[in-house]
Amino acid sequence: MSEALQGSRLRRAALVAYPAALAGERLDFLLDRSGLQGTERASLQWLLSGALRESGSLKSLLQSLLRPGKQDDQVLALLQLALYELRHGQRPDFAIVNDWVSASQLLGKTWAKGLINAVLRRYLRERAELDAKDEQPEHPVWLLQHLQETYPGNWSEIVAANLRPAPLWLRVNRQKISRDAYQQRLQDQGLASQSCVELPDALILPQSLPVRELPGWEEGWVAVQDGAAQLAAEILAPLPGEWVLDACAAPGGKAAHLLALGAEHLLALDRSAPRLRRLEEALQRQGLMTESQVADAALPDTYGDGHPFDAILLDAPCSATGIIRRHPDILYREPDLVSLCAEQARLLRGLWARLRPGGRLLYCTCSILPQENEIQVQNFLAEQHDAERVEDPRCGQRLPGHRDMDGFFYALLRKADATL
Ligand SMILES: C[S@@+](CC[C@H](N)C(=O)[O-])C[C@H]1O[C@@H](n2cnc3c(N)ncnc32)[C@H](O)[C@@H]1O
Repeated sequence: MSEALQGSRLRRAALVAYPAALAGERLDFLLDRSGLQGTERASLQWLLSGALRESGSLKSLLQSLLRPGKQDDQVLALLQLALYELRHGQRPDFAIVNDWVSASQLLGKTWAKGLINAVLRRYLRERAELDAKDEQPEHPVWLLQHLQETYPGNWSEIVAANLRPAPLWLRVNRQKISRDAYQQRLQDQGLASQSCVELPDALILPQSLPVRELPGWEEGWVAVQDGAAQLAAEILAPLPGEWVLDACAAPGGKAAHLLALGAEHLLALDRSAPRLRRLEEALQRQGLMTESQVADAALPDTYGDGHPFDAILLDAPCSATGIIRRHPDILYREPDLVSLCAEQARLLRGLWARLRPGGRLLYCTCSILPQENEIQVQNFLAEQHDAERVEDPRCGQRLPGHRDMDGFFYALLRKADATL
């Protein structure tokens, strides 16, 4: 990771992607567009996610370090990235300063060398004092309003959890290796991990590392998947012989888990063909196979062979407000909640038509906003008289940081039996 941060390719990519993410572009698309692979990509992700998470605090730090007046936006972005690396990186300070001073050339702004050098060196001289007065970076107003309204007693804990880096959650592919055996492999490489009582295939590593450094990554022994996301397949619990639909399946984290748990007839749908290709690649790496189709899951007559499903997973498109700690770029994009909620309702209605009487549908989102979650489900239950909620202690609203997991919402619904 540290070695990759030496490269000018990485800094060039960061200087393009960081302002774009601050302007609301998706971080995963920007990482794809960078063309970087492996350790370089992982290092770029580390740098960008961290700087985005701390951007409020980096901006105010810069205000203390610069003379008042108009500054060049690209140079300011470079300084924020450099300060983030100085605060959290593993490389020697002098190497970090030299590399970011040289990066002014990548912007065609060699005139800024002296300024960058002076600002970074001043930070190093005064860092103890400057970091001590660091204030909690701010969330955008639209998000703060939602959080304060919904969680008046604990919104600030949610904000704090959003700004803490997440641990690395792994899901061991039980089709290939048991969790205990995999934990031993990690141990053999000097990597300590913890298990989780709620999740039989999960292991938690205290911090991120490039996935290719994980034992058996290429062989598909393990996938990266947050604990909260691992609950989906556990709650839906596919039984042998059942027909299962994963309605919004790409890039395939939960589909792979359903298959690893033994789902036999699984159809993986997604509206996006490029995302579905990522699902196919992920399944291939894990040695798993299933049928997949590009379709609008809300249109019941357009996919599969007309067979009703015993179990449906609807991992709906949402504001993603529960996974900000992993995707801090979300802070810079206000979601269109009206159209997201309309799409979720349309998906619920359309999918219900393909569920067999007596079948179950698990609705989930990685949102912590009630409009997309509890209120959405209440509205659906009010209009769909053959739908009832199944009580499951794992369901409901889960907040980010709780048990070191992402924020997720789960509701398990059952369709009344035709005979009743
Ligand atoms: C939250 S992501 C799903 C993540 C996935 N379940 C996983 O575990 O990797 C939501 C997905 O829904 C897809 N989507 C959105 N609207 C859809 C629709 N009407 N029909 C099918 N897929 C849709 C998006 O393309 C996106 O891939």
